[in-house]
Amino acid sequence: MKQSGIDHFSGKRVWVIGASSGIGEACAKTLLLKGAKVALSSRRAERLNEIALTGTIEQSLVIPIDVTDDAQLQDGYKTILNAWHGIDLLLFVSGVYTPLRAAYFDFKIAEKTIDANLLGPMRAVALVMPEMLKAHSGHIAIVGSVAGYSGLPKALAYGPSKAAIINFCENLYYDLLPTGVSVHMISPGFVATEATAKNDFEMPALISAEEAASEILTGIQKGEFDIHFPKRFTRFLKFLRILPYPIYFWIVRRFVKI
Ligand SMILES: NC(=O)c1ccc[n+]([C@@H]2O[C@H](COP(=O)([O-])OP(=O)(O)OC[C@H]3O[C@@H](n4cnc5c(N)ncnc54)[C@H](OP(=O)(O)O)[C@@H]3O)[C@@H](O)[C@H]2O)c1
Repeated sequence: MKQSGIDHFSGKRVWVIGASSGIGEACAKTLLLKGAKVALSSRRAERLNEIALTGTIEQSLVIPIDVTDDAQLQDGYKTILNAWHGIDLLLFVSGVYTPLRAAYFDFKIAEKTIDANLLGPMRAVALVMPEMLKAHSGHIAIVGSVAGYSGLPKALAYGPSKAAIINFCENLYYDLLPTGVSVHMISPGFVATEATAKNDFEMPALISAEEAASEILTGIQKGEFDIHFPKRFTRFLKFLRILPYPIYFWIVRRFVKI
């Protein structure tokens, strides 16, 4: 049994959450140029309005929301249902990253990270899933990270939030495969965005947000569950995680100089 992809995006109704910058902005713009109807969400309304100009007025809805706020998400989805009667694809890209190490672990930052990166996608999925199950169709795509594959430095809250996304997507895929609803788990390596601009180390296999958007949308079109890129980096990390812990930690200490 294989889950279905999407032949073309023209006319498809897509909710991009985290559309105001970086990977989400690149996905939203590409989708608008491909003729999709795009509901653009995140907190910065002015950025969303600018990005909406990539397409025609009829093509987009600007729905400012904070993913940590249940009521805002619910109202946002209601607005989409009123306008479009449903969605074909939920593309949840939004995420936050604050470097955290044992020496400066801050529980409040950890709580905010889990709320935005794990509970945020769960809130959105809980909203859109009933309609998709009723229709026996639809796509749920969530951006996690290779930081969720296994423990890495400076990710004491971000890493666990993204590891949980992998598990959440695996669970969803198992349950939704027989229903006609597709699940896409997206694990990027390093992508040049506002989030990574503050990194003070050399990022291996760094790609642009436009390249990331192309990988994501192609993977969704093909119906792929495990969308990871760039492969030269992600395949190496997938190999590392099957190694015994002593070898894994030795390699990380040897090569990660942060
Ligand atoms: N860049 C990388 O190297 C990389 C690698 C692996 C995974 N990722 C993942 O890719 C996703 C996008 O990251 P990016 O690099 O493109 O970062 P970015 O440029 O900082 O974009 C993050 C997006 O999330 C939105 N967002 C953050 N908190 C939000 C909240 N509480 N409510 C609503 N929207 C919120 C931001 O919009 P507002 O500020 O307008 O709310 C923005 O649109 C994230 O999930 C990130 O973890 C990135």
